[in-house]
Amino acid sequence: MSQNRHLLAIRHLDKGDIEELLDLGREMKARVLSGNATLPDLSRKVVGMLFFENSTRTRVSFEQAAHYLRMKCTSFTQAGSSMSKGETLKDTILTLRSERLDGLVMRHRMSGTPYLAARYFGGPVLNAGDGAHEHPTQALGDALTIHERLGKLKNLRIAIVGDVLHSRVARSDAWLFHKLGNDVRFVGPRTLMPHVTANLPGEIFYDLAKGIEDANVVICLRLQKERMEGAFISSVGEYAKLYQLNRQTLRYAAKDCLVMHPGPLNRGIEVDDIAADGDHSVITNQVENGVFVRMAGLYWAFGGEPFTKRKAAAKKQTAKPKAKVKS
Ligand code: NCD
Repeated sequence: MSQNRHLLAIRHLDKGDIEELLDLGREMKARVLSGNATLPDLSRKVVGMLFFENSTRTRVSFEQAAHYLRMKCTSFTQAGSSMSKGETLKDTILTLRSERLDGLVMRHRMSGTPYLAARYFGGPVLNAGDGAHEHPTQALGDALTIHERLGKLKNLRIAIVGDVLHSRVARSDAWLFHKLGNDVRFVGPRTLMPHVTANLPGEIFYDLAKGIEDANVVICLRLQKERMEGAFISSVGEYAKLYQLNRQTLRYAAKDCLVMHPGPLNRGIEVDDIAADGDHSVITNQVENGVFVRMAGLYWAFGGEPFTKRKAAAKKQTAKPKAKVKS
């Protein structure tokens, strides 16, 4: 094992790191599915699962990933902790550090809080979604799913449709797909688009038909009302009329396009049943792959080396010394 590292945002990773994490995710999947291959043993590590915001798939998949790696988990929510008595996040992190936790997985409604945790906590911190900033492991799971289905992750047209303004998934996805050489598009009403578009790697479209034209992948986003202050759309019905992915609007995308959604789905709003459950949909694959990329993330954050490099090094070590030739 080499040094610990944080997994806070895709934006700060280079292409090499992203590819290493995806390779690890693929390898974890192959090993779990084979049923008898050995998995890395992190049983000496205790990880704190800090979910200060509601979560189903991210929390459960991080816990499941930790179980596969034999880590011990300590769960932590704001309501059941001293934070409900007024303790600051910094003091909470320092407490968990003193209690000798080895790593933290953290979700918080405020953008940037995992950076604060990384500053005060000794070990690796993994961001499980911070406000409208980033959700790096969701993007890794999405990337693994696309690569499995389309056999590549380059030169694809990937349209992210809906509430981009409040979406951490949109940001992490956009950075990842851009860094790997894809054409990223954001599609939605003006009011749900980021104000400073230059900071995000993607072209903006306000018209669904134009935005998803010939797209290889369409990623639908939920209207994240809990992160909205005030009204961003005139009505949910009108939004659905203009931006819903359904049997009709799917026709604008490429013939064999993938339909994705990070969940939770609001059926009948951003997506209808045909798009969500039809042949194009890979939504359940995204959830499944979420477990394997989170295994990869945890292993990587605790300094795990790529398996292939490890294999090569192990081979070198066990190789018989060459017989000396007598002169
Ligand atoms: C998303 C999230 O919480 O960022 N879901 C997820 O983690 N899979 C998206 C959302 O809340 O709409």
